[in-house]
Amino acid sequence: MQISREPLISAAAIAERIGELAADISRDYANCLPVALPVLKGGLFFAADLLRRLHIEATVDLIRARSYAGRLSSGTVEFTFLPEQPLRGRHVLIIEDILDTGRTTAAVMDRMLAAGAASAELCVLLDKPARRVVPMSAKYVGFTIDDHFVVGYGLDFEERFRHLPAIHTLDGERPA
Ligand code: IMP
Ligand code: MG
Repeated sequence: MQISREPLISAAAIAERIGELAADISRDYANCLPVALPVLKGGLFFAADLLRRLHIEATVDLIRARSYAGRLSSGTVEFTFLPEQPLRGRHVLIIEDILDTGRTTAAVMDRMLAAGAASAELCVLLDKPARRVVPMSAKYVGFTIDDHFVVGYGLDFEERFRHLPAIHTLDGERPA
């Protein structure tokens, strides 16, 4: 499996956009000590860069949700790791690599609200609205992309390519 030679989104473009998102989030969450909640594993890379550019204080916890096998969405969401901090009354900012069918983020959002969070919002690096199955939108979106299967900067194909600094498409790919 080959990745595209030229990135779809360069590391420099990602860094620039992250600065803008961090400014928006810092303004919206001033003085309320939000919990930043990266979704493992893909959201980790984006979250690490985003959080270091906030101008406000935030606590950090982790969640792991899986809804994917290879390129096919299985349609069910399984939680294999849950936050350790009490979330009751907290403002939770879910940080995810990509909003695709919407199943994962909808399930994470429901879970946070069921845990008593005062609010739950979503920040995604990438949004693929063409693929949506569950009605879901993110308050903070890095880039809206067409229906490509993408890898890099946290996004994987069968656990490969997460470490790449930019976002690439897979050559000859077609999401199912
Ligand atoms: P959703 O539940 O369908 O919105 O899918 C979200 C998850 O599917 C993401 O956290 C990714 O792990 C995975 N995913 C969706 N689209 C892509 C893609 O283009 N490349 C890599 N992973 C993807
Ligand atoms: Mg994944």
